[in-house]
Amino acid sequence: MQFSELGLSPKVLEAVEKAGFTTPTPIQAGAIPPALARKDVMGLAQTGSGKTAAFVLPMLSLLETGRARARIPRTLILEPTRELAAQVQEAFERIGQAHRLTVALLIGGVSFDDQAAKIDRGADVVIATPGRLLDHFERGKLLLTGVEMLVIDEADRMLDMGFIPDIERICKLLPFTRQTLFFSATMPPEIQRITNQFLHAPVRVEVSPPSSTAATIEQKLVKAPSDAKAKREALRQLLRSQTSVKNAIVFANRKTTVALLEVSLKRHGFNAAALHGDMDQSARLRTLASFRAGEITFLIASDVAARGLDIPEVSHVFNFDVPIHAEDYVHRVGRTGRAGREGHAFMLATNAEAKYVKAIEQLIRKTIPVDGSAAPIEDVREDGAEAPREDKSRRRRGGKSRSERPQAEAAQPREESPREEKPREAKPPRDEKPREAKPREVKPREEKPREDRPREAKPRHEPQQPRRKESRDRRHSPSGDVPDSDSFHAGNMPAFLVRPVRSASN
Ligand SMILES: Nc1ncnc2c1ncn2[C@@H]1O[C@H](COP(=O)(O)OP(=O)(O)OP(=O)(O)O)[C@@H](O)[C@H]1O
Ligand SMILES: [Mg+2]
Repeated sequence: MQFSELGLSPKVLEAVEKAGFTTPTPIQAGAIPPALARKDVMGLAQTGSGKTAAFVLPMLSLLETGRARARIPRTLILEPTRELAAQVQEAFERIGQAHRLTVALLIGGVSFDDQAAKIDRGADVVIATPGRLLDHFERGKLLLTGVEMLVIDEADRMLDMGFIPDIERICKLLPFTRQTLFFSATMPPEIQRITNQFLHAPVRVEVSPPSSTAATIEQKLVKAPSDAKAKREALRQLLRSQTSVKNAIVFANRKTTVALLEVSLKRHGFNAAALHGDMDQSARLRTLASFRAGEITFLIASDVAARGLDIPEVSHVFNFDVPIHAEDYVHRVGRTGRAGREGHAFMLATNAEAKYVKAIEQLIRKTIPVDGSAAPIEDVREDGAEAPREDKSRRRRGGKSRSERPQAEAAQPREESPREEKPREAKPPRDEKPREAKPREVKPREEKPREDRPREAKPRHEPQQPRRKESRDRRHSPSGDVPDSDSFHAGNMPAFLVRPVRSASN
C-alpha cells in the first residue's frame, strides 16, 4: 500500500514525502480512507505505530478548502496532557508546513491571553487539553459551532472518569454534523461501550490484538523487595546492569515517589530529573526538552508521561512500581520501541504487586519473562497473602474494575483529569489537572450556542455511585500520598457522580 492510494490530496502527499514517510503504517492505511470519506473512525493500534499522522493527514486534506473565522476553529484535537498536546502541535506544524494553517495550542499552565489572541485571529486547528478549552469557551473567547472534525486522541483515557464530564460538555458544544475520530492503543470494554455516545456509525480500524505491546519491546520482570529503601537499591542495581541505556524513563505510581527517586538517583550519581503534575509548567517543559535533547539520561516520571510521548531515543523504560491500571503498563512501555525500533522494558515487582502483574499479563495476553540475571520471581505471580484486597467501590462505568487496586490508591484522582470549575468572577485559567481541586459543575449553561446539541439527547450512561465514598478521601490514605494517576475521590467528587444512579446498566 502506498500513500498515493489513500485518496490524500497532492499537497498532502508532498507533505508526507517531506516528512520522510515512505509507506503508510497499517493504522494510516486503514484509517485515512474512511476519514477522508468524512466517516467517524475508531482507530486502535499499538503504541508508536503512527496514529498521529493517521488523523493529521486527513485533517490537512479537509482544511485545504475553506477558511478559519475569528474565534471559530474548524477542527479540534483533544489530548489528555499538555506535553502531548504540544507534541501533536509540533507534529501538525511540521507535516503541514506548506499548508500555512493557523494552529492554536490551548493548554493549561501557560499564558491565557496569547492563546486567546491566536484564536481571535482565526484558527484552522485547535489542539487542546479539555480544561483550558472550556476556559476559553466560558470567557466567550471561543465558539465550537464551526468544528467540522473532532479528534480525541488517547480516547479511552479521555472517556475515563476524570475527563468524561468535560468531554461530554465539549461534545455538546460541537455541531451535530461534525466528524469524530477516536484513537488509542488501548480500549477497555467498559469504555468501548460508551463510545457510541460520541461516534456515529464509526468505521473500526483495529490493527493489532487489543492492548497488545509492540513486538519490538523486550519486556522483563524483576523481583523487588517490599522495603522502600531496598527497592530503590534494587532499581539502582537494575539501572547499572543495563549498559545499553541511551535515554530511559523510570515510571512510578506516585508523585512523591517520583520526587524521592529523583533525589535518591541524583545522590547516587545518576543523571536524572523528575516530571510530574505538581511541578509548574515551565519546569515540566524544561525537563522534557532537556530529556528530548539527551541532556538528561533518566526521566523519573508519573503517568503524566505515560501516554503518547514520542521520543525516539528512549531505549529503556523502567517501572519502579507496577501500574495499578493494566492499560497504563501498555502506554508506559510504549514510550520505547517506537516505529519499529528496538526497546527494553523492565518492571520491578514486589509480592504485594503480584496481582497487578497478573492483570497486566492477562491484558497483553503474554507472560512477562523474569529477568535472567535476577532471583526467581515465582511468588510475584501468585496471588500472595500480601496482595491488597480489590477495591469494589472503584468499579467503573461498566461495572467492571479496570484492574484490581488497593483501596487507598484506588481512591485517588488522576493527575491530568479536569480541574475544578472556579467561580465565574474569578475566572482563573483552568488547567487539565485537578487532582486536589474540587470538581467542576457540569451543568449546561444558558449561553450555549444553538447548535449545542449532543448526538443523543442525554448521556446514555452515568457512572456508578461509589459505594464506599469515605475510602476515597485522601485523609484515609495510609501514606497521605496521591498516585499520579486515577480519578475522583471524596474531596473532589462532582455532584453528578454522587447523585442517585438512574441507570446502572452498562
Ligand atoms: N508512515 C510512517 N513511516 C515512518 N515513520 C512514521 C510513519 N508514520 C509515523 N511515523 C513515526 O512514528 C513515530 C510514532 O508515531 P506516533 O507518535 O504517531 O505513534 P502513536 O501510534 O500515536 O503512538 P502512541 O500510542 O504512543 O501515542 C513518530 O516518530 C512518527 O514520526
Ligand atoms: Mg499517539
